[in-house]
Amino acid sequence: MINENNMSLFINKDTKSNCKLYEQRINDTSEFAELYNLSKLAIEEIKIKLEIIADEFQIRFQRNPVHCVKSRLKTPSSIINKLIRKGLEPNIQAAKDKLTDIAGIQVVCDYIDDIYIIEELLCSQEYISTIRKTDYIKNPKANGYRSLHIVAMVPVSISGRKEYVPVEIQIRSIAMDFWASLEHQIYYKRGCDNAPDALVKRLKECADAIAKVDIEMQNINKELQKICCVKD
Ligand code: GTP
Ligand code: MG
Repeated sequence: MINENNMSLFINKDTKSNCKLYEQRINDTSEFAELYNLSKLAIEEIKIKLEIIADEFQIRFQRNPVHCVKSRLKTPSSIINKLIRKGLEPNIQAAKDKLTDIAGIQVVCDYIDDIYIIEELLCSQEYISTIRKTDYIKNPKANGYRSLHIVAMVPVSISGRKEYVPVEIQIRSIAMDFWASLEHQIYYKRGCDNAPDALVKRLKECADAIAKVDIEMQNINKELQKICCVKD
């Protein structure tokens, strides 16, 4: 009989039906419901902080740097697939101990500079601690992907106790989000191993062209700011 302790024996001969089985088992446990609940609360905490930051920014600079905020909880099947991909046991404990992106937030800003302002304001909150930062803007991925990734530990109070929950926060400009959202649909999530090099190259060229436009829009905004007032 398969139980959570011997599931790892099955990792190497994983099939879609095995994944479904693990998913079912994870889904049915109260620990999973609790993990999801904590992750949901952690997302809400960050969203509240972002609203406060946006309000402060609006008062000081007469504009809101946050274009939009999107959030998601990693689905049970994505959790299982990621654990298996990393050679870990497909169970709740491993998900809790090893995965830092069950709770995910994307903050989309108008301009590149706003990304770092949001990061600074968010991470300077004394109770949020950053455990990982990957700057794919200063160092874009080989495929052209750009975004600032942060993993923050967010305290959440539940049933009279405090838990620290990891949240993956991706901060990016509208332009970066435009490319990443489409590339996610057409390539990243398809796991397309045999895509022709020419198409991969064209996607990268789009990313680089968009990055140039992103910088230019920011520069135009800065120059116009010096000479024009914003209309009411
Ligand atoms: P995953 O296993 O995909 O979660 O990657 P990871 O946890 O090893 O870390 P990484 O920081 O590279 O990616 C985390 C997330 O960033 C992904 O789940 C995507 O949402 C996003 N991301 C990373 N690389 C790309 C990319 O090349 N294209 C797109 N569209 N999104 C990406
Ligand atoms: Mg991820």
